Amino acid sequence: MLKGKRILLIVAGGIAAFKSLELIRRLRERGASVRCVLTAAGAKFVTPMSLQALSEDRVYSDMFSLTDESEMGHIQLSRDADLLVVAPATANILARMAAGLADDLAATVLLATDKPVLMAPAMNVRMWTHPATVANVETLKQRGIHFIGPNDGAMACNEYGPGRMSEPEEIVAAIESMLAPAERPPLEKPLAGKRAVVTSGPTREAIDPVRYISNHSSGKQGHAIASALAALGADVTLVSGPVAIADPPGVATVHVDSADQMLTACLAAGRIDIAVCAAAVADWKAARPAGSKIKKRAGMAPPSLELTANPDILATLSKRGPQRPALVVGFAAETENLVANAVDKRQRKGCDWIVANDVSPAIGTFGGERNTVHLISASGVEEWPTLAKGEVAMRLAGRIALHFGRPTKAEAAE
Ligand code: CTP
Repeated sequence: MLKGKRILLIVAGGIAAFKSLELIRRLRERGASVRCVLTAAGAKFVTPMSLQALSEDRVYSDMFSLTDESEMGHIQLSRDADLLVVAPATANILARMAAGLADDLAATVLLATDKPVLMAPAMNVRMWTHPATVANVETLKQRGIHFIGPNDGAMACNEYGPGRMSEPEEIVAAIESMLAPAERPPLEKPLAGKRAVVTSGPTREAIDPVRYISNHSSGKQGHAIASALAALGADVTLVSGPVAIADPPGVATVHVDSADQMLTACLAAGRIDIAVCAAAVADWKAARPAGSKIKKRAGMAPPSLELTANPDILATLSKRGPQRPALVVGFAAETENLVANAVDKRQRKGCDWIVANDVSPAIGTFGGERNTVHLISASGVEEWPTLAKGEVAMRLAGRIALHFGRPTKAEAAE
């Protein structure tokens, strides 16, 4: 899907640099060529030799090396690429780029380029949330720089939160959707002209203005599906509950809190061909959310919370009569009797397909990077191998294209 594309990959100094090796592999598998620029700090984490072996090209790091300048100047390096990717993008390189510094080869290339740039930040959570970094990211976004991630998760420094670099598959999907609009040939956009709505993430149901009911959904799977559908040319609206991950590029994202808001946003999308409900919608909400903070009073017993059912978004979309999308896909999060419960859920909700995933804590689906799913349709149950969430998304998007009689090349080859 990236055949003939030239990616200039800038590897800065962070523990996530090891994932860049995997990124090179994934990009080359898809037919892209990769040329690497390694910063001095990056070289503390990965060697030029490993980047060179995987990219099968020389690695550039020294701005003042006469050989580099005579063979390939910094201007030429960026001119020769279709896209620049900075992975990992450290707080330092973000700051240098925001300030317009040109104090090493990586910064100079970034300053000199006229090509699209994708940043995959990776840093300690406190560095990511520091007002200086927040302001730098904002500046860069305003200048049209694209961002993917960072993801939430446990970090090498024993802290938890946003700061982990996106997985190589997620970065590849973002690259594909950045290079897609202008340059993907029509055949590679089998979902062009189709409109899709994807729900993702948890919902938050207010108990009072400061407290809410929610769940552990990270939104990674739903966001990846939105990206994958967009990469295949669909016009995608992503309706996302509160998540810590970035809006996918190339997708119209609507942010909501509650299930009621999520349903309203889905219905507001108008006529759609494809609905994928990947959100972990809270089943219940407070029957009467308090208008002001519920206060403790001395001697008062804990208040009891009366719950009422939320609207079922998947069932509502599946049973919409003439307005029903041609294909409705639900998810089934199960901890036991996965297939039997999911087969039953498909019937009950009236959707066409169910992607059933095991969310037992031991499997680590919630918040994790991989997913083991079964695809359940009228024609039976298909077991998929354990895949990265990005790959589950791409496979599902490919199957959706096939359903509309427009196979991707990968699907056609199967
Ligand atoms: N779903 C929805 N609206 C709801 C509840 C669920 O759209 N109010 C969708 C989810 O997005 C998912 C599917 O329904 O696609 C199944 O969600 P799941 O939580 O597994 O099922 P439940 O309906 O909650 O059923 P149960 O609690 O019996 O497992």
